[in-house]
Amino acid sequence: MNSTTVDQDIFGSVRMGYAVIESNKLKEWKTFLQQGLGLHFNTDEKLINELSFRMDDHAKRLMVQKGSTEDFIALGWQVKDQKTLDIILGRLAERDIAVEKSTQAEAEQRGVKAFWRILGPKKQNIELFIQADLTEQPLQMLSSGFITAQAGMGHVAITSRKPLKMQRFWQEIFNARVSDYVEQEMSGVTLDVTFLRLNERHHSVAIATTREITLDPIRTKVQHMNVQAASLDDLSQAFQRCKQLGYEMAHEIGQHPNDKELSFYVISPSGFEIEFGWAPLVVDERTWKPTKYFAISSWGHKPENPTKLYMFSTNLSNLKQGISTVIHPEYSPI
Ligand SMILES: [Fe+2]
Repeated sequence: MNSTTVDQDIFGSVRMGYAVIESNKLKEWKTFLQQGLGLHFNTDEKLINELSFRMDDHAKRLMVQKGSTEDFIALGWQVKDQKTLDIILGRLAERDIAVEKSTQAEAEQRGVKAFWRILGPKKQNIELFIQADLTEQPLQMLSSGFITAQAGMGHVAITSRKPLKMQRFWQEIFNARVSDYVEQEMSGVTLDVTFLRLNERHHSVAIATTREITLDPIRTKVQHMNVQAASLDDLSQAFQRCKQLGYEMAHEIGQHPNDKELSFYVISPSGFEIEFGWAPLVVDERTWKPTKYFAISSWGHKPENPTKLYMFSTNLSNLKQGISTVIHPEYSPI
């Protein structure tokens, strides 16, 4: 591949496509995603020890596999076409980042034709695919729909002790652009969050770090994943269903100042948060200018249980985890 091709800007050609969670609480996850958040559960799935859920015509958007990590084990990113994939693979090769192509069985399990796996920052499995398996089977969801198309199925927020390296990874490999920054004081510690967009979605990846002490108290590879509901009714009804089912709200309904999304954060059966949102703004590249905000929320987002310190970070008080991250350096492929 020549350097002109590798240098080509691929902004707008990559979007979040699927997520795979590992948990021993499959029954709880089924209730949470189907009855709480209102996703379509694939009842015809023949795989043992795995559940899969739909949000649109993709055969699978969220998968929960049996296992003990109670964490995300893979994030799938949909790439526009073969040319874009070749550019990405060229950039990875230039940096000696190993790429592994899926077997047919692995691809089927993910609901895609094929995928290419790399070990991303923080040892996160990043899986690149072009074509998803689609289905015309009607959706049976408690939600009227989810916004998934051009901008992908949502976003992820990740804590990092090497935020600049993590940011460079997304910028150098995927031409991510900085949308804006949030700086927030909490309990004497400054939390810095950088919001990166890969397409018109305000952010597909948010990177959070603590300024004064480089601890990562978050147990999971992803601090929260966001999905975007189609309507305000979907948001309010999902909130009420989750409350009725007894799920704890890390943050009740509120609004972010930067992407203007209205959302709530509910604690999933694995302990991390899922953000259920509605109506984030769409970035206009012609006029957008990165700014800095000094609060993560403009209103609301109050914790249901104020004795627990949630703020941005579930399990922020997890000191043991924080200390262990001092001993073990955070992995970065670049
Ligand atoms: Fe979020």
